[in-house]
Amino acid sequence: MVIKKVGIIGCGLMGSGIAEITARAGYDVLVTEVNDELLKKGIARIEASTQKAVDKGKSSAEDRAATLARIKGSTKLEDVRSCELVVEAVIEKMEEKKRVFGILDCVCPPEAILASNTSSLSITEIAGSTRRPEMVLGLHFFSPVPVMRLLEVVRTIMVKDEVVEAGVAYGKAVGKETVVCKDAPGFIVNQLYLPYTLVAIRQWERGLATKEDIDKAMSLGLNYPMGPFTLMDFVGLDIHYNACMAIYEETKDPAYFPPPVLKKMIQAGHLGRKTGRGFYDYSGK
Ligand code: 3HC
Repeated sequence: MVIKKVGIIGCGLMGSGIAEITARAGYDVLVTEVNDELLKKGIARIEASTQKAVDKGKSSAEDRAATLARIKGSTKLEDVRSCELVVEAVIEKMEEKKRVFGILDCVCPPEAILASNTSSLSITEIAGSTRRPEMVLGLHFFSPVPVMRLLEVVRTIMVKDEVVEAGVAYGKAVGKETVVCKDAPGFIVNQLYLPYTLVAIRQWERGLATKEDIDKAMSLGLNYPMGPFTLMDFVGLDIHYNACMAIYEETKDPAYFPPPVLKKMIQAGHLGRKTGRGFYDYSGK
């Protein structure tokens, strides 16, 4: 399966990162958003991130220009019809994923591979809603996409081996280490990571230690780059909460049921860094 052109659906934090690394690896990229404003914002994010890569000495100004030239934007989902691989990175809602995959299934040729970057929804359910479940897999990237080294390649019981192999090859081509995982809620990383963060919230709530000290303990004690509260703020508490609830609803495992304080913070608009306040206050930064 030769992949030359990759469609990315959604140019938010994940989609823009996936577009960036895919174009940097030499693929032509067509990234779509629902309106011009979001598309502009996403492309601006890619421009800023590729500039940061130049500033940090990870890429040259020429490479940056070539990367940006390979990225085209559109507000029409159907424009990805000429792509051999399409990676969906839209909002984590099953109805929206199915809507997107329904359109992709109609406009893309039958040999095109369709992937979802979902972190917690069932790839099997998404694949089962199309007429080509054997061509659908999970490609789960981590944030920030240009920096994090891992890609989880998620296989269902329907997907063809060649499609999984193509997913692994694409991951390597865009500079990621890959792991292959069965389709199960949270895959490998989030199945381990999400309960850990919820335990940290419960430790804090019962006064075991301050959130600063819990963060310090995990970053210094285990060499994690960020402690759990800093990381939840970084990812976004809404995204975090939705991922936990999606897995809880699928498994009914209480380890994934978020403490009520998380919902309260979301209701208050304290979503983490992106709103200037989460577990910590970023308003001065
Ligand atoms: N392209 C290429 N390289 C880049 C880059 C870009 N656009 N931007 C930054 N880099 C490089 C930098 O040059 C630097 O490389 P070096 O270590 O060789 O010097 C490295 O990436 C780190 O960049 P920064 O100096 O800007 O940032 P920090 O050192 O402050 O680290 C961090 C920031 C990478 C976010 C680090 O704190 C970290 O790893 N935190 C944990 C992140 C994490 O756990 N993410 C997973 C979240 S969970 C998830 O995504 C799952 C989902 O389902 C919710």
